[in-house]
Amino acid sequence: MIKIAPSILAADPLNLEKEVRRAEKAGCDWIHVDVMDAHFVPNLAYSAEVVRRLSEISALPLDVHLMMDNPETMLDAFLDSGASCLTIHAEIDSNIPSMLQRIREKGCMAGIALKPGTSQETIGEYMEMTDLVLMMTVEPGFGGQKLDDGVIRKIRLLKESGYPGEIEADGGIREDNLELLANNGLTVAVMGTALFHNTDMAACVERLHGIRTLQ
Ligand code: DX5
Ligand code: ZN
Repeated sequence: MIKIAPSILAADPLNLEKEVRRAEKAGCDWIHVDVMDAHFVPNLAYSAEVVRRLSEISALPLDVHLMMDNPETMLDAFLDSGASCLTIHAEIDSNIPSMLQRIREKGCMAGIALKPGTSQETIGEYMEMTDLVLMMTVEPGFGGQKLDDGVIRKIRLLKESGYPGEIEADGGIREDNLELLANNGLTVAVMGTALFHNTDMAACVERLHGIRTLQ
């Protein structure tokens, strides 16, 4: 069964607790929290403090997507925030292996993310150091974009490589394109607009959980 991770970037920021409870009640598996520094991406979103408060009100694993340059400057704050997974981007100019190691040492899942245009050769050396690969299916920075189906091939290749961790996609995922992603090896679907702008999230999540995935 594919894991559904609603992205709170698409939630009502003035009612975050209520929105997270709606996602919990709807049967979602994780909560995806986008962190943006207005430098790596041209947008600003959520802090370690918000992650910490969310960890106090929700039992769902917090899947934190660090769209930031120099995440090492904030890594301790996120490691102490109650995050279940911390994902950094392969495109940053930082010591990625040492950050991945620090994340795992704290018992947190370590993820590596790729923008649509970044080839997966760049993450070959990190495979053993990660528990999750996040394949961006839109240019990071904003919700509500159209899925770049050129990324499906990267998902398939990662699946065929025998990568044992979670294969996550993020951006533009809807009910009408999730089956194709699942048939190519996806295990976690990040969905913002398609869920939080849905009047019947629970019915949608039930249908999404019914989609068969590649074993
Ligand atoms: C974009 C974020 C995504 C985004 C997904 O940079 O990483 O998590 O919020 O939103 P939708 O599903 O609306 O494309
Ligand atoms: Zn994200």
